[in-house]
Amino acid sequence: MAKATSQFTCQSCGLVSNKWAGQCGNCGEWNCIVEEGAAAPVSGAKGARMPKGRPSRLVPLKGESPTPPRLKTGIDELDRVAGGGFVPGSGVLIGGDPGIGKSTLLTQAMALLANKGERVIYVTGEEAIAQVRLRAERLGLKDSDVLLAAETNVSDIIATLSEGKPPAVVVIDSIQTLWSPVLDAAPGTVTQLRAGTEALIRFAKQKGTTILFVGHVTKDGQIAGPKVIEHMVDTVLYFEGDRGHQFRILRAVKNRFGPTDEIGVFEMSDKGLKEVANPSSLFIGSREAGTPGSAIFAGMEGTRPLLMEVQALVSPSTLGTPRRAVVGWDKNRLSMILAVLETRSGIPVSTHDVYLNIAGGLRISEPAADLAVAAALVSSLTGTPLPIDAIFFGEIALSGAVRAVGQSGNRLKEAEKLGLQQAVLASRSELPKKSGLNIKSLDDLGALAAWIATLS
Ligand code: TYD
Ligand code: MG
Repeated sequence: MAKATSQFTCQSCGLVSNKWAGQCGNCGEWNCIVEEGAAAPVSGAKGARMPKGRPSRLVPLKGESPTPPRLKTGIDELDRVAGGGFVPGSGVLIGGDPGIGKSTLLTQAMALLANKGERVIYVTGEEAIAQVRLRAERLGLKDSDVLLAAETNVSDIIATLSEGKPPAVVVIDSIQTLWSPVLDAAPGTVTQLRAGTEALIRFAKQKGTTILFVGHVTKDGQIAGPKVIEHMVDTVLYFEGDRGHQFRILRAVKNRFGPTDEIGVFEMSDKGLKEVANPSSLFIGSREAGTPGSAIFAGMEGTRPLLMEVQALVSPSTLGTPRRAVVGWDKNRLSMILAVLETRSGIPVSTHDVYLNIAGGLRISEPAADLAVAAALVSSLTGTPLPIDAIFFGEIALSGAVRAVGQSGNRLKEAEKLGLQQAVLASRSELPKKSGLNIKSLDDLGALAAWIATLS
């Protein structure tokens, strides 16, 4: 048998190596590499004989398989992000920063499922039963039939779940508290996390139970983060938001049973999370007319158009290296837009401090936001307010050209629905035959600057 040796595991991405290092070579995190017990000898390694296997039955690709039934919670924003409800027998990871509202969302969803007569078990490893009850009371759900267990030992959890009728849904809150006494590793380490999740997923597949795993995103690497088990589960959802804002966004980043670019929008209130059916009106609702540096970006989040406000502040800098501060957008992308503005259109931004913010604590990753960002920057630099009823979308190339992006029709429709009047976009955009908006099409950034100059 191969000799067991010590191994070092990155608590952020799970990379295993045979020596310690200050920084993980894979994910770049610092101080996240921890020595973890002994690696199990790999069967099939030198010296071990691979057992003889059984051939499996081959089936043609063509042919029908039954579509899996779905378990709908009744919270539309959650069901849609999950791909139309949860699939029985699947493993779902819900990741997010501590305190963002994961337990709140799941308590609400589980109470709704229990009300429909489903057997629902909430395993809490983090909070005492009394705390879970207190939360349910705050949410007005204290009479619900959700069953609770305060347990962290994986063997005991599986023994509990195996008793009686198999549960339809189980919540494990959180994966970081799972541990198994047979492993020589501390709770919260990659080894424990993987082993615990694997055992529970095996249970889920056997019994047809949906297991929802809660995972805290960790920054310091003291405990392993949800990235480590992303590949083991069928669906990965991230719950995001800024603690200073009440909006929360549930985003699917992996889904074996549905689309991955879907988002759900919630608002945290004193009575828990409320669904936001029309997020655009919320995100652009509180703008003031006549303020330079604000542009509305018509974005797409999955199948849904979403209007967001891009705010920029450009002011002369007293520093040798001007400040660039970005919240909710990619810093590198901002540097690129600034360089293109300066080089291609002669707009002097290199001597200015630039601050960029996406209102409401949102985060944009679409390149289609380039044009809105550029418009907000030029507007702030020149002190010219943009029309309050205009939307912007388009990608900016290094040449300074404004490029068309997909789904123009849906973006325009959303703006029209909210009573906006104008759309500023790339001249080669594919437009619907009829649109109630005034269209201003641009070829490049020079045309954008010239148009903004006509507004003052
Ligand atoms: P929680 O669901 O415990 O977060 P997580 O499980 O992601 O760590 O919720 C955390 C925050 O939400 C907490 O700071 C209090 C706030 N909260 C409300 O604002 N309203 C509510 O009704 C509830 C239950 C929590
Ligand atoms: Mg929690």
